[in-house]
Amino acid sequence: MKLYKAKDYEDMSRKAANIISAQVTLKPDSVLGLATGSTPIGTYKRLIEGYRNGDLDFSQVKSVNLDEYRGLTRDNDQSYYYFMYNNLFKDINIDLNNTNIPDGTEPDSEKECARYEAVVESMGGVDIQVLGLGHNGHIGFNEPADEFPKTTHCVDLTESTIEANKRFFADVNDVPRQAYTMGIKTIMSAKTILLLVSGADKAQILHDCLCGPIVPQVPASILQLHGDVIVIADEAAMSKF
Ligand code: GLP
Repeated sequence: MKLYKAKDYEDMSRKAANIISAQVTLKPDSVLGLATGSTPIGTYKRLIEGYRNGDLDFSQVKSVNLDEYRGLTRDNDQSYYYFMYNNLFKDINIDLNNTNIPDGTEPDSEKECARYEAVVESMGGVDIQVLGLGHNGHIGFNEPADEFPKTTHCVDLTESTIEANKRFFADVNDVPRQAYTMGIKTIMSAKTILLLVSGADKAQILHDCLCGPIVPQVPASILQLHGDVIVIADEAAMSKF
């Protein structure tokens, strides 16, 4: 595991974008595993800048996203499709047909999870998977549980996640209670994992994930077992180290 301390959110975002940019430059048909949440927004802004100034070409890139709220349509401004389109895809030259996000509108969860797992598998391996970190240690939407969920599945969101994500919704009752998410095995099969963490409110959980026991109650603790994890965390998030 490589752990880089960034000065602040901007520095974290720049460092992360540099790593993704190198990946795309060295392998133009890279498979990028992408994440939502506020953490990677600055990274995506930098990638857009890289595209605009001619340094980056996404025309052959493929992407798979970690998760999607169950029940939200793509045009719902809280769906992760909407997030990805507006924070990245619309401003770079990625072919939208090469982007993949679970379909939140598919009511048959078994069918959608099996379809999405097959999509990720068909990519032949995610080259670099970007991850944010939930306050309870979740990655994607793999919530604390009694065992590590393996493949793409439908999850009941915990109260703390609903609480954390309600800031994006008009009312807490509008926050979906379920989501489709890649499983831990799906995430762990990425060749490289890029975990981004910012802010003092993530300091304790980041320490637990990287230095504590590997347990499903702290889902991101599993990353200790991956052979190629890059963690970029800002000073505030690193304050417990
Ligand atoms: C959501 C997403 C995660 C994300 C987490 C942290 O629940 N499903 O992928 O990492 O929130 O979000 P933030 O970066 O806004 O703190």
